[in-house]
Amino acid sequence: MTRIIILSDPHLSPTHGFFWENWLLVRDAAARIEAACTIVNGDLCIDGPDSDAEMAFAAEALRALPGTVLPLPGNHDVGDEPPGQDVRQLIDESRLARWDRFIGADRWRHDLDGWTLLGVNAQLFGSGLARETEQTDWLDAALADSRGQRVALVLHKPLFIEHANEADPTIGSMGLAPRRDLMRRLAGADTRLIVSGHLHTRRDRVVEGIRHLWVPSCAFAGSHSYPDDPACGFLTLDLDGDTVTTAAIRPEGLVSHDLAAIKQHGRYKFLREMPPCPPELGSATQLALEQASR
Ligand SMILES: [Fe+2]
Ligand SMILES: [Fe+2]
Repeated sequence: MTRIIILSDPHLSPTHGFFWENWLLVRDAAARIEAACTIVNGDLCIDGPDSDAEMAFAAEALRALPGTVLPLPGNHDVGDEPPGQDVRQLIDESRLARWDRFIGADRWRHDLDGWTLLGVNAQLFGSGLARETEQTDWLDAALADSRGQRVALVLHKPLFIEHANEADPTIGSMGLAPRRDLMRRLAGADTRLIVSGHLHTRRDRVVEGIRHLWVPSCAFAGSHSYPDDPACGFLTLDLDGDTVTTAAIRPEGLVSHDLAAIKQHGRYKFLREMPPCPPELGSATQLALEQASR
């Protein structure tokens, strides 16, 4: 049996520290679990598309996680694919370059115990950027090379909400055309599992033979549109041959913040627009950040 930890959507910021206490609880709880790797499935930041300081802060936070850490970008890190929820923060080359500079690769392959884990940049699907084509070529090669292995795809956004034929554009999931294209590719391999974040809700469903696992957020609760299990936390994933078991870990003291209440019920549209409220950092974190910024 191989255990993996999956964290998602911590939404860290050196200026807007609403969720820093939650991060500390999650980080310390994750460190007490023996695992082959820790995936951080996007939305590391609040304003990552426009802030070097946030990306540097998130990178430093990730360095405090033990073992192999496998991060992926979300819309709060590199921006949305068009049309997006904010036209001022669409994914582009310079935002990708910021991720590369502070975090590293935006896609990865990790083989363990009869499984091939493929992490991809969800924000590229439908972006039309050159890196979208590069990622598709990389994915095709990785899927072709996964023969004999079970495949799990990990990405920030779910492919769809309820079913694969949903056509209405939504900021909640991938668009129809790139989804169809991706699902055709995945069907050519032994794809068992698709793991996503973004909706801040835990869900575990099999749709047309593939298990779709939504990972809860470390930061704030999911919306009432997805009533499955919106409370904050993180997941462990135990891979044991064909059997995959998950558990939600909710450290004592973790707060499932209400985003609408934090944004003062419509007074602020985006968290980044709110007055600064820096997190309470310990001196070791402060020192590491100062060193990183030199
Ligand atoms: Fe998020
Ligand atoms: Fe997101």
